[in-house]
Amino acid sequence: MEYFNSEYFIYKNNQLYCEDVSIEEIAKQFGTPTYIYSKKFLTDRYKEFESAFKDIKHTIFFACKSNFNLSVIRTLGNLGCGVDVNSEGELFRALKAGIKTNKIIFSGVGKTLNEIKLGLGNNLLMIKAESLQEIKLINEVANSVGKIAPVAIRVNPDVDADTHPYISTGLAENKFGINTAEAFRIITEEKGLANIRFIGIDMHIGSQITSVKPYVEAVAKLSDLYLKLQNAGIKLAHLDLGGGIGVSYKNEKTFKVAELAEAIKPLLIKLDCDVFFEPGRFFTANSGVLVAQVLYTKKNNDKNFIVVDTAMNDLLRPSIYGAYHHIQPVKINGGRINFTADVVGPVCESGDFLAKDREFTENKQNEYLAIMSAGAYGMVMASNYNGRRRPAEVLVDGSSYKLVRSRETFEHLIYDEEELLNK
Ligand code: LLP
Repeated sequence: MEYFNSEYFIYKNNQLYCEDVSIEEIAKQFGTPTYIYSKKFLTDRYKEFESAFKDIKHTIFFACKSNFNLSVIRTLGNLGCGVDVNSEGELFRALKAGIKTNKIIFSGVGKTLNEIKLGLGNNLLMIKAESLQEIKLINEVANSVGKIAPVAIRVNPDVDADTHPYISTGLAENKFGINTAEAFRIITEEKGLANIRFIGIDMHIGSQITSVKPYVEAVAKLSDLYLKLQNAGIKLAHLDLGGGIGVSYKNEKTFKVAELAEAIKPLLIKLDCDVFFEPGRFFTANSGVLVAQVLYTKKNNDKNFIVVDTAMNDLLRPSIYGAYHHIQPVKINGGRINFTADVVGPVCESGDFLAKDREFTENKQNEYLAIMSAGAYGMVMASNYNGRRRPAEVLVDGSSYKLVRSRETFEHLIYDEEELLNK
């Protein structure tokens, strides 16, 4: 079995550490399942991004849909990062984390009237619009409150990001954005939008993209549109390239942000505007692990199962996308290697698995396992299915660590049902 070691998650004396803290210590203190994040990882990835684009004017907005824990948002916010929110709930979180409204951008293919009102009322840096009807609604709301709304159009550049179909967003067949020709027409010709100021054009072609090629293709299309608009007398303030940078979950080859920067800078330098980025997974995926405890091991006919206390409700990615998350022991136990098993949770579905046919060191009851690369789209996609409480979250900083969200209680789970039951 392979052990993933990095500067952030590393074995010392056969014990897995997050930075300088033993993962076993955290698991014993807070129980399992628990998400553990490395602050240094978040910081280093932000700095890596910053430095890759340092010679062009740019602004980074953390896509907090990948991890919306207030402490994670604040960690990045304190470094100077803005935040991209996709809903009223994410906006609420970004504000609670202390992010200034002029560092927040509002995305989303289906914003409600209330969300548009909130975006305008809070004077967010911009609202991204994805349909003409949405633009008209923003215009009406802005008119009713006597404001000019800063709006960017999310353009669908019709580029294949070559990723999982559920997270590919830049193809003509996807629900996202407005096609290039229509975006040009709306910005240059659409009448009756007196309360809209178009300030940018945006794209987000997909997530977990592992090659720079689709970016180059899409940026070329977007920069053409930018220049075409400029020739038509419209000067936009920014070009937003979205998120999507792929990370390594297994040993897959990805690209460095610096390589992306080298590939797209020649296109960007020709434009005189701020370039926005909205990375989510790149900052958070490998910042986190989810710690599980082995409940039982068993064999059904020829197949081995490791039943852990962590399930699809805690980390949905393997079940929903067939995503690979490396799983390794928190303590290397010297047990039999070449033991192949499925790692499964207690939820009442065969779809409840965290790994299939994986080779392990044979596990013993009560051992802890670390499910790697779980910092992005982990906790944010967790649910209470089967009446399960969502995991606790811990943020490690060097040799110290802090609980940043407690495990839910059963009272949290029933919310006001009991009160309503007896009404
Ligand atoms: N900007 C927009 C407009 C987005 O829709 C997304 C992600 C991002 C930025 C950030 O993308 P990232 O840098 O994280 O790739 N639940 C899926 C991923 C869904 C991504 C949705 N949009 C997963 O677990 O793989």
